[in-house]
Amino acid sequence: MQLPEELSEQIEKLASNTPLADLVKTFQTLSDLYRGPKGAEGTDLLGSDKQRLAYLHVRLPATYAAVVRVLNELFNRMPDVNISSLADVGAGPGTGLWAAWSQMGSLSQVTCYERDRGFIALGKQLSAPLGSLAIDWVHKDLTENTALKKHDLVLASYSLAELPLQERTGVVERLWHAAGKVLVIVEPGTPAGFKVVNEIRSQCLELGAHLIAPCPHAQVCPMAQSDWCHFAARVERSALHRRIKGGTLNFEDEKFSYLILAKEPSLPIQGRIVGRPQKNTGFVTLKTCQESGIQQMTVTRKSKEKYRQMRKSEWGDSF
Ligand SMILES: C[S@@+](CC[C@H](N)C(=O)[O-])C[C@H]1O[C@@H](n2cnc3c(N)ncnc32)[C@H](O)[C@@H]1O
Repeated sequence: MQLPEELSEQIEKLASNTPLADLVKTFQTLSDLYRGPKGAEGTDLLGSDKQRLAYLHVRLPATYAAVVRVLNELFNRMPDVNISSLADVGAGPGTGLWAAWSQMGSLSQVTCYERDRGFIALGKQLSAPLGSLAIDWVHKDLTENTALKKHDLVLASYSLAELPLQERTGVVERLWHAAGKVLVIVEPGTPAGFKVVNEIRSQCLELGAHLIAPCPHAQVCPMAQSDWCHFAARVERSALHRRIKGGTLNFEDEKFSYLILAKEPSLPIQGRIVGRPQKNTGFVTLKTCQESGIQQMTVTRKSKEKYRQMRKSEWGDSF
């Protein structure tokens, strides 16, 4: 997956005044902080202009790719849903806004809620080419106990795991009430990110949400015992991205966990592929989540149609 050209150009333009050596140094500090104890708690690590700029290069492409994958799944599962308004909460530089714009021709109004004024300023500059959308940037701390305006889609991408549990519960409840049709949550595909997603899943089911994806059922998550439910989105790395990260590969795989919750149900699915399919000669082995739990499924050449389908299947597909 690639970033939209308009977005890549804006990012390059914003970084053009900052020496590469500064971005590399900032990335290294950021990466050390994320790996350290502060990162584990998810506290604010993006407080300086250079850190925010480094985020645009080394994290935004990956979080963008994850959100696009999740929005594609929303349309797979709810092909008739019409989304004209979006609330991107904990918007950062507006990653969710760009992902939604790239996938939804029907989108006309967006509100980006963000508590960091630096990101709001950056997000406004980045989104300058999206003139056809009415975009409202709102300076707001989501933990304030005030209702949010209703939008068809409320999207929280990589922002809720940063909140302590006692605050997150109230925030999630307000997000659910603000979602006219759909609430989407995306978090890092790590055990800690999945734990947050699974807690939100339980909370929203109690609030009456319909679980659209990834789960094929609303029973207790069978993954939560010993594993974590996550998926992967492949994103192209720009030359500058590679130079900042010191990597040689021209792509990276972003691991993410997610939830799509809706006010209305969608057609049920039998199961979801929750690991990379092993495609061998004459048979395919799949790790799946189904109502009966986590199941290893082997489909052989004998089951012609199913085998043909499963040879094309990818990690994250439903069936
Ligand atoms: C890791 S960034 C994710 C940004 C963007 N959503 C993305 O997917 O790339 C998390 C963002 O959430 C924002 N955030 C965290 N806690 C918040 C709160 N209580 N209220 C508003 N924004 C918050 C941070 O300021 C930051 O911009």
